[in-house]
Amino acid sequence: MESCNLCGIIAILSKVQEGFQVSVQIREALKRLEYRGYDSVGIATIDSENKRFQIKKDKGKIDEVHARLNLDTLPGRVGIGHTRWATHGKPSKVNSHPHLDGSGKISVIHNGIIENFISLRNQLIELGHEFKSECDTEIIPHLIEEELKKGINYEEAVHGALTQLQGSYAIAVLNIDEPEKIIVARKESPLIIGLGENALYAASDIPAFLPMTNKVKFLLDEEMAILTLNSVQIRSIRDFNTIIERETTEIQWTTEMAKKGGMSHFMLKEIHEQPNALRNTLRMDPVIVEKFAKYLKDAPTIYFTAAGTSFHATMAGQFLLARIAKTISFPFISSEFKDRIGETIGPGSVVIAITQSGETADTLNAVVHAKSQGAKILAITNVLGSSITRHAEAVLYTQAGPEIGVAATKTFIVQIATLSMLALTLAEMKNSLPPAKIKELRSNLDLVPDFVEKIIKLEEDNIKIAADQYAQKEDFFYLGRGLNFATAAEGALKLKEISYNHAEAYPAGESKHGPIALIESGFPVVFVAPPDETQDRIISNVMEMKAREALILAVCEENDHEIIKLSDVVFRIPSGCNSLFSPMTYVVPLQLFSYYSAIRRGYNPDQPRNLAKVVTVL
Ligand code: F6R
Repeated sequence: MESCNLCGIIAILSKVQEGFQVSVQIREALKRLEYRGYDSVGIATIDSENKRFQIKKDKGKIDEVHARLNLDTLPGRVGIGHTRWATHGKPSKVNSHPHLDGSGKISVIHNGIIENFISLRNQLIELGHEFKSECDTEIIPHLIEEELKKGINYEEAVHGALTQLQGSYAIAVLNIDEPEKIIVARKESPLIIGLGENALYAASDIPAFLPMTNKVKFLLDEEMAILTLNSVQIRSIRDFNTIIERETTEIQWTTEMAKKGGMSHFMLKEIHEQPNALRNTLRMDPVIVEKFAKYLKDAPTIYFTAAGTSFHATMAGQFLLARIAKTISFPFISSEFKDRIGETIGPGSVVIAITQSGETADTLNAVVHAKSQGAKILAITNVLGSSITRHAEAVLYTQAGPEIGVAATKTFIVQIATLSMLALTLAEMKNSLPPAKIKELRSNLDLVPDFVEKIIKLEEDNIKIAADQYAQKEDFFYLGRGLNFATAAEGALKLKEISYNHAEAYPAGESKHGPIALIESGFPVVFVAPPDETQDRIISNVMEMKAREALILAVCEENDHEIIKLSDVVFRIPSGCNSLFSPMTYVVPLQLFSYYSAIRRGYNPDQPRNLAKVVTVL
């Protein structure tokens, strides 16, 4: 299946008649949305003279496609456009949006994933519908076409189609028979309506239309809107008869700010995007995860290899495979892989390379070595078609969307979500846990995005205050045990990368074998302390540090009174999240702490000195 869970969409309905071509505005809007995706592009406009759509679409970046097809020549003053960040399968012309129904009268663009696409498509095929692409979106215009056959009006038909969809969507629909109307709708994917003097807009993000208007109406989850030249009517999808009044908001952002969702930096925006990045990743096709897990089922030796933040994900991955799937694996830092492993690796071994960019030279080098020794290569990456995917026999794509801030945040959290799903699938194959337990863990995992959302909402201000207070401390220790040594390591890396404090992570139990010598009054020690089997030992470590007058900062559950009593600063995690998935929640306060420390110290977190987003040197 092809789907677009990270794309940019724009729809424009313009009042201006004379010599006006909406296609130019759509292309320019798509350009401003290109940070959301750039693998393929497509525009459809209504050619009202000939009562048909004019469509241009192809794979490639907007400027490349424009150079080939000249997108500006599409006629008319009503149109929709789409730019895609491919997540499954190769970008191609036929899979590019917009998609049409069988009659050629309905055209749709979509950002999201339709989960029940296969069953809906099969039902539609039985009714005689023919499909041109492999894209889940294509079922939407066909469903609308089918609904219209019931003799209901256009709005009802779109609503009828929406009620059949499971998954996420932001869509814009055009109908040749009602050329003065655009219908938009959203569930879990963003969609904002812009109110210009001479035109109405709807887009995935405000920068798309901000040069034209700063007056917006926010469409909320499970709402649809009918846009005509004189009105914006918002309705609830759950209750179609309810018409919703929505206030108009004036956006005071510049386009640059708008790209960051009104936040001061991409890093902060990306931290806030984590709940949705997780939701999208957790929707990964189970069949693909199974195929991947099969490589691990009977493998005599499993290695992980990765660099930086991705290496920290491998540390969590090792724990999850061991604990959930009773499978041992060995993480190696990519730049060390060849030197340490040498010729001991061979056929039968499996190497899982984790790299968000898919281009890290150290990781590619490790993989090339392992492959030359006959090992099988698997990859987890965020970028479709990246170099790592050419070396790998199977790939799991995380669904974080493009990460622009140099410091990895949302890509880390989705790597761990992917590893959690992998461990659960492998556990199923190996019967390493009772099916009921696996089911319970899967539901616990599905709750993680909501926990992350709550943490950001409840703790961000408190974390900012702590960062303001302690950002000037020279040195920090970050301590955690077991699974959450990975979280401590990631927290320390984030702080040194963007705030330039010296931060060292240790397994908490190891701290007494040397590092504790550095502790003196006021030395900050950050503990990652979930209520798991390590808790008592972590408490002992806290007490050891406290006895030497360290300043204790703890990430712990909101009702963990014992840790709270011992700590000077607490970052609270709402209770109830399964500790097996704790790195995804416990890392969030640490990301925010680094971010606000960098701000306090006057550094730009998006562009840390000496670092690059993709490290292509060995
Ligand atoms: C940390 C960071 C780097 C990367 C590392 C690997 O915030 O961004 O440490 O994690 O360079 O990058 P990928 O995952 O692209 O291989």
